[in-house]
Amino acid sequence: MNNSSGVAPSPEVARFLRENCAIARKKGEAINLDDCCYGKIHRGGGFAEQPSNYYYFLAGIVNHFELKRVFEVGTHYGGSIRSMIRGLTDQKSRDESLYATADVTFYNAEAFGHYPDTLIRRFHGDAGAAEEVEKVKKLFGGEPIDMLYVDAIHSYDGTALHVNLYANALRPRFLVLDDIHLNHEMERLWNDMVKIFGDQAYDATEISGRGESGFGVILMRNS
Ligand SMILES: C[S@@+](CC[C@H](N)C(=O)[O-])C[C@H]1O[C@@H](n2cnc3c(N)ncnc32)[C@H](O)[C@@H]1O
Repeated sequence: MNNSSGVAPSPEVARFLRENCAIARKKGEAINLDDCCYGKIHRGGGFAEQPSNYYYFLAGIVNHFELKRVFEVGTHYGGSIRSMIRGLTDQKSRDESLYATADVTFYNAEAFGHYPDTLIRRFHGDAGAAEEVEKVKKLFGGEPIDMLYVDAIHSYDGTALHVNLYANALRPRFLVLDDIHLNHEMERLWNDMVKIFGDQAYDATEISGRGESGFGVILMRNS
């Protein structure tokens, strides 16, 4: 991955991200995510019936930056992508939006059957496979998207593969990475992102409420 964003690295960019992520968090807290549960918990077991804390941040980012074209790698039960779409609070922005998510599993089809979740396109397959990338690229018509959210494999190579494939194919304005502090490999990946993107890479762990797992927001281009 290289930084061809054209964004001039500067303390201004860092401040832009810090301030706007804080506003996004506040806006997200006002959004009702009651039915957006995480589902089966990977680490530690159990089933989360409640929205995860960072879902409010994701919904707030969508709302604050008015993100209309979003792709997620790692659907799981759909809690995160369904939270994001709740950030589209008016009918006009929903009408103009295109949201998609991919996973090797296909849980919780019932929840996706109710409006506004019916607006979300689901891909069932390995997001790292060339044919899946092509399908997603085709859906978005080869035009840049607003946000790529990667939350699938928590290894260096697995996440780097997804980031590279979809950042190249979809040219997102924002790249959001979950679990950047989850383990040594994810920590190393985030450190590399910071080396490449400098002030454009914002560690949003605290503001997102992600606890020890970590959450990163990278501004890939200005608009
Ligand atoms: C941590 S969960 C996603 C959680 C979800 N984003 C949320 O916040 O509610 C990670 C998901 O990535 C999926 N996954 C792992 N490898 C994948 C791959 N190569 N392609 C697509 N999905 C993958 C797993 O099946 C799992 O459901």
